Amino acid sequence: MTKLAFKGRDIISIDELNRHEIEYVLENAAALEKTPRPTLLTGHILASLFFEPSTRTQLSFASAMMRLGGSVLGVANSESSSRAKGETVYDTAKMAEQYADIIVIRHPHQGAARVAAEASAKPVINAGDGANQHPTQTLLDLYSIKKTQGKLEKLHVAVVGDLKYGRAVHSLTTALADFSPHLSFVAPKVLAIPKKYLTYLTERGIPYSEHEQIEDVIKDVDVLYMTRIQKERFGDPLEYERVKNVYVLSREHLRGVKRNMKILHPLPRVSEIACDVDETSHAYYFQQAGNGVFVRQALLGLILGKL
Ligand code: CP
Repeated sequence: MTKLAFKGRDIISIDELNRHEIEYVLENAAALEKTPRPTLLTGHILASLFFEPSTRTQLSFASAMMRLGGSVLGVANSESSSRAKGETVYDTAKMAEQYADIIVIRHPHQGAARVAAEASAKPVINAGDGANQHPTQTLLDLYSIKKTQGKLEKLHVAVVGDLKYGRAVHSLTTALADFSPHLSFVAPKVLAIPKKYLTYLTERGIPYSEHEQIEDVIKDVDVLYMTRIQKERFGDPLEYERVKNVYVLSREHLRGVKRNMKILHPLPRVSEIACDVDETSHAYYFQQAGNGVFVRQALLGLILGKL
């Protein structure tokens, strides 16, 4: 592997990484999966600042750091930190940089990770900012796609569900544009993917199509990327009630799909994938979440200058 410069970098939005840098992170993740490095980050501390609920991202960053010999300190919710007293993201990051070597932040407000990066002299990783971006989710999604499909190039990927508010979808769409995909977007009209992402694809000559039914695309795709309808982002609870069960993927849908078609989901799921799908060879979402540890190990090692 030719070494690329990652030391000290912030990771705020996936479009800050070019194709070679994405592939480099994935190669490092694969190397760490194959050969664990239990002392790589001994003596380093991660500040884990989560101001919005999380299971996978929070735990897998902590697991990644600890499996490399590092330590973790952090805030698990808004109520247990001085955010509840009105402290700003800027001031919180100014504190965290003095206690840790690298900061991971999740926040309900779009742009919060950028503010933290501006405040902190230590590197900051965005673990999800509102409906905006979730770059490390995308890296583990790409790792999962490569692992299951053997490549990232020229795949047909359908993204289903809440494409308006789903930050994982926004980051993934942006990153996939580097790999000559065909993209299908499946959503009710009120949750359609924002136009700026379609413009991004058009400018890069990437073919895409928009649909309202899973059945329109499922037999043609290599990857079916399901997403949750994001209740917490709706201004009007009635609007959420109208669309909350719009997609429920069942075993019935899987008749006639490609043999190696894989179902991904950033999780958590609510009702959009029936549990009997879990037992099929197409379900990959739990392994996908597990891949987050290797990808986050790679990022931590690279940013801290140890890989
Ligand atoms: N995929 C994801 O971000 O999950 P959590 O919200 O549980 O971290």
